[in-house]
Parts: sequence; C-alpha cells; structure tokens
Amino acid sequence: MSHIAYVNGRYLPQRLAQVNIEDRGYQFADGVYEVMCIWNGVPADYAAHVVRLNRSLKELRMAAPASDGALRLIIQEVVRRNLVEKGTVYIQVNRGVSPRAHPFPSPNVKPSLIVTAKHGAGPPESVAEAGVKVIALPDLRWKRCDIKTVGLLPNTLAKQAASEAKAFEALLHLDGTVTEASSSNAWMVTPDKTIVTHPTTNSILGGVTRATVIKIARDAGYEVEERAFTLKEALKAKEVFLTGTTTFVMPVVQIDEQTVANGSPGTIALDLRQRYRAYMDSLTEAAWNA
Ligand code: PDD
Repeated sequence: MSHIAYVNGRYLPQRLAQVNIEDRGYQFADGVYEVMCIWNGVPADYAAHVVRLNRSLKELRMAAPASDGALRLIIQEVVRRNLVEKGTVYIQVNRGVSPRAHPFPSPNVKPSLIVTAKHGAGPPESVAEAGVKVIALPDLRWKRCDIKTVGLLPNTLAKQAASEAKAFEALLHLDGTVTEASSSNAWMVTPDKTIVTHPTTNSILGGVTRATVIKIARDAGYEVEERAFTLKEALKAKEVFLTGTTTFVMPVVQIDEQTVANGSPGTIALDLRQRYRAYMDSLTEAAWNA
C-alpha cells in the first residue's frame, strides 16, 4: 500500500511528496518534530505531544503551522488514509522556505508542515522479554536537548555506533552523568528499589512516555526520584530500562560488556512495561481530545 503524506496543505502519495530545497529544515535543521504512537487507531498522550510541539516552536520563535484544531484534523486524516491501527505518526514543522541566509526569514514566510504515518509500534515483545544491550557513549549534543529539533546528527551517530555494536541503544553521558539515550529516556532502579530518572532540564528531552511512566509508577506505589545518576551507579543498579514512544518500557540487561544485575530483565521494568501496555490498551477515541 502506498503511504499518504500531508505536505503543506496537500495529501499525496509519499513518493510524490516533496519539500523545497531551500526549506530551512533541510539547510539548517531549522525545524522541530514529534513522533506519536497510534495504538488501536488512537494516539497515546496526544495532548502532551501537542504541548511539547508548541513549546519547541515557542523556544525557537517559530510560528505554529496550524491551529491545534486544524493540526488534529490533519493528523487524524493521515492516520485514516494510511489505515494505521498500530503505528506512529511523524509531524515535522520547519521554519519555511527562503533563500539561504542564517538569520530568520521575514515573518511572512510560512512554516512548512509535514505529517507522515508508519505501520508498526514498539519493538517485538520478544525483545523486551530478553532485555537489550546498550553501549555507553559521551553525549556530544548541544545545550538545548529539551527542544525536539530535527538536528539529530549526534543522536544518529550514537545510534549507528550502537547498531554496529549489536546494541539496541546508546546510553549518553556527560562526564559520567547519564543524560538519556539516543532516542529514549534512561532510568535505573537503586538497590533499595527507588526508580530514578534524570530531571527535565536542558540536558534531556522531556519524554512524553517518561512523564506517563512516572505517573503509572507512582500510582502503582513505586518511589520515583527525578535526579541525575552516574554511569557508575547504572552499572551497579538493580535494574536499568529505557522509555520512549517507539520503545515503550524496555529493560536493559547489559551496558557495554557488563551485565546489569544478573543479566535478566528487571521485575520492576517488566511490571511497568505491562502497566504501560494496559494503559495503551485502555485508550479510546477520547484520546484525541485529551
Ligand atoms: N524520540 N530522548 C530523545 C533524545 C528522543 O529522541 C526521544 C524520542 C525520547 C523519548 O521521548 P518520548 O517518550 O516523548 O517519545 C527521549 C523519538 C521517538 C524519535 O526521535 O523517533
């Protein structure tokens, strides 16, 4: 089936969907994006993704390409036209098309809006049941990782290194302090069973899944602490896991050549994974309004 993409006002077969070569997203990575999970035809945490998109736009002083209402209709239409039951929606907003020059173009230049959809959500269950390996790498990114920009080169380099090491993810650290992973947030469980994840500072992306999992964990009675932790602590942790829109909750069983605890997925990570899955299964059409 040919995928249908939305590009600046038109729904097109994806192979015909094009952007201008002078789009600033292309020339300066002057754009922001969101990835949402569609589960049983409805989005997970729709409102939180829109809030983050609007925040990213505001931080970069970029105009919104559409009202929240119009954006919702476009996303719903892309999901519908692509018959997505379980998958992802990708939304990208670039500052727009203008002859290449570093300063912002005139305010008359309209931002570009691209929405695409993909089938398939989350890694196979067997991957989570076995747990994954990660590699530790220095975090080479800029100082505004809280903005979800398309400037992802350090992330792609880290993910490629992970891939070449047959690892699922790269755990990024700044001088030994774990920030997050290349496309997911990082967590550990201390020996006294406190769940720890980096606070939402400029050093990490405030993950939508991260926020949902914090709530799910607290509601289930777990102690959750938002504080930075070191790679050393992670190596001695009871459990390590990752969260993200395309990851859900993923137990980590190995960091570089060292196993985490006894090398099998942690019970808390697996419990949170199940609870997150139950939350996804409970979503209804109302999720669009959330
Ligand atoms: N990435 N940290 C980084 C650097 C990310 O790129 C992502 C998501 C996350 C998790 O955020 P969320 O729970 O909101 O998905 C954390 C998306 C999925 C991507 O780039 O494809």
